[in-house]
Amino acid sequence: MLSRASLRTLTVSRHFSTSARRETKVAVLGAGGGIGQPLSLLLKSDPLVSSLSLYDIRGAPGVAADVSHVDTASEVKGYAADQLDQALEGVKVVVIPAGVPRKPGMTRDDLFNTNASIVRDLAASVGRVAPDAHILVISNPVNSTVPIVAETLKKLGVFDPRKLFGVTTLDVVRAARFVGEITNKEPSETPITVVGGHSGPTIVPLLSQNAAAKGVNGEVYEKVVHRIQYGGDEVVKAKDGAGSATLSMAYAGAKFTNSLLRGLNGEKGVITPTFVKSPLYEDKGIEFFSSNVELGPNGVEKIHPVGPLSAEEEKLLEACIPELKKNIEKGKAFVAQSA
Ligand code: NAD
Ligand code: LMR
Repeated sequence: MLSRASLRTLTVSRHFSTSARRETKVAVLGAGGGIGQPLSLLLKSDPLVSSLSLYDIRGAPGVAADVSHVDTASEVKGYAADQLDQALEGVKVVVIPAGVPRKPGMTRDDLFNTNASIVRDLAASVGRVAPDAHILVISNPVNSTVPIVAETLKKLGVFDPRKLFGVTTLDVVRAARFVGEITNKEPSETPITVVGGHSGPTIVPLLSQNAAAKGVNGEVYEKVVHRIQYGGDEVVKAKDGAGSATLSMAYAGAKFTNSLLRGLNGEKGVITPTFVKSPLYEDKGIEFFSSNVELGPNGVEKIHPVGPLSAEEEKLLEACIPELKKNIEKGKAFVAQSA
């Protein structure tokens, strides 16, 4: 018969991969929101998280009290609006889903005016209180909010490009699922590398690099690429004014956090797409780009090139570059103009 401990390991490992356990305090900023709540729950069941610090301008202590009853060993504490500094003390990883979501008819860039200052101010606090923390940005528009965090940390003299990540995992999750559906495979057999950024044409799925997906062509190919690029709109439309993806995003956010924690713990070969400061398209004026990144004890260990592309993918990448450049420059300009 299995012991209680092994039963718990079995239950947990259905969701998360584990490696040698180390004490890791993780903060969620925006923990009271549509993403923040289920993300906090999933992080509570990740054995690599030893302590959870939940912060929001509304409702985080309640979420923390609720989540803290889940029977895993990690400690959970909630912090109210005026307790951001306390929430950040000693944290190793900060996940940021704070900010407003889209309504039907909006682009992610339409969120810029509200979310840019939210993310800038949170990043400034992280830079001051927890300058060594790894920062995972979920708040949209990711193509601009990641440069906003970088520029804010630069101003404080604490920017380490190995420790800043735009979370693009939802695009990877969607791609595996949608391609699995059309090829009648398990999503685990259709992992698709998604490069570029996180909005419409900047989302570039590389089907040609997967054995099961490379035969997909014609109208079926066009449709599945469009669905991956605009999967977010599908959810925004279905929620009909009540927000955007929250549950699948929480799943994706917890999945990426677990990958990072495994890398930080010294596990080798943890590779996943994420939006980071990247040399790949610097010659085209692109400072941040998502491609496969190997995660290690210091965060970004190695940035992989995009690899061989089909003619269609070359075209998708061509369309991605100018849009991504505009989004990145907008984020940088915002911080340059901030007092
Ligand atoms: P939500 O409105 O349900 O929750 C946002 C939370 O942020 C709220 O609880 C709010 O109180 C909090 N908040 C606002 N300002 C804050 C501040 N200064 N400090 C701390 N908390 C603050 O929204 P949501 O559905 O959870 O979405 C959050 C963000 O994530 C949106 O910008 C959305 O576009 C983005 N998103 C990104 C992805 C992705 O793939 N990267 C996927 C889905 C959603
Ligand atoms: C998504 O891809 O679902 C998120 O970026 C939310 C959105 O606005 O579409």
